[in-house]
Amino acid sequence: MSNIILIGFMGCGKSSIGRFMARNGYRLVDTDSVIEKDAGRTIKEIFADEGEEYFRRKETDILMELIQREDDNLVVAVGGGLPMHARNRALIHKLGVVVYLRAKVDTLAWRLRNDTVRPLLQTGNPRQKIAELMEKRSSTYEGTADVIIDTDGCSYEKVYSMIKEKIN
Ligand code: S3P
Repeated sequence: MSNIILIGFMGCGKSSIGRFMARNGYRLVDTDSVIEKDAGRTIKEIFADEGEEYFRRKETDILMELIQREDDNLVVAVGGGLPMHARNRALIHKLGVVVYLRAKVDTLAWRLRNDTVRPLLQTGNPRQKIAELMEKRSSTYEGTADVIIDTDGCSYEKVYSMIKEKIN
């Protein structure tokens, strides 16, 4: 099986779908978790201590390392901001099939309503922030994806079966 790269906004279900796929023959790499583990700190702490650019460089480093390892059967759940950098877009395409898990702002805002761990959403009005970021990002997500899956209201099983259908 070739690798699958899951992209999409925070809260779109990349890590959850990744975990589901890991029970179905894939090996999961979650870039946020790898960065946190390597640093021994949370993403919130990394953003606060080193700044966002440092975090973005770490994301690129992981992609380069994965490409060098030449693994297959991976499902790679990447942070929501990773595809915003052209260098990362080139790398994820080298790594495998890029799947955008698309969700509506309302869905994202609901799923992220109690979030305390994502630094970009620790504002007075997270919903507005989600809408602003989606406005900036959605065309990049769409333009980067080999496959787009609309996930609103779908179970993990359903999303996975739609992914399988579209990549085969
Ligand atoms: C970010 C998304 C987060 C994490 C960081 C920044 C973003 O990952 O990488 O908080 O810029 O959208 P998830 O999409 O897995 O929440």
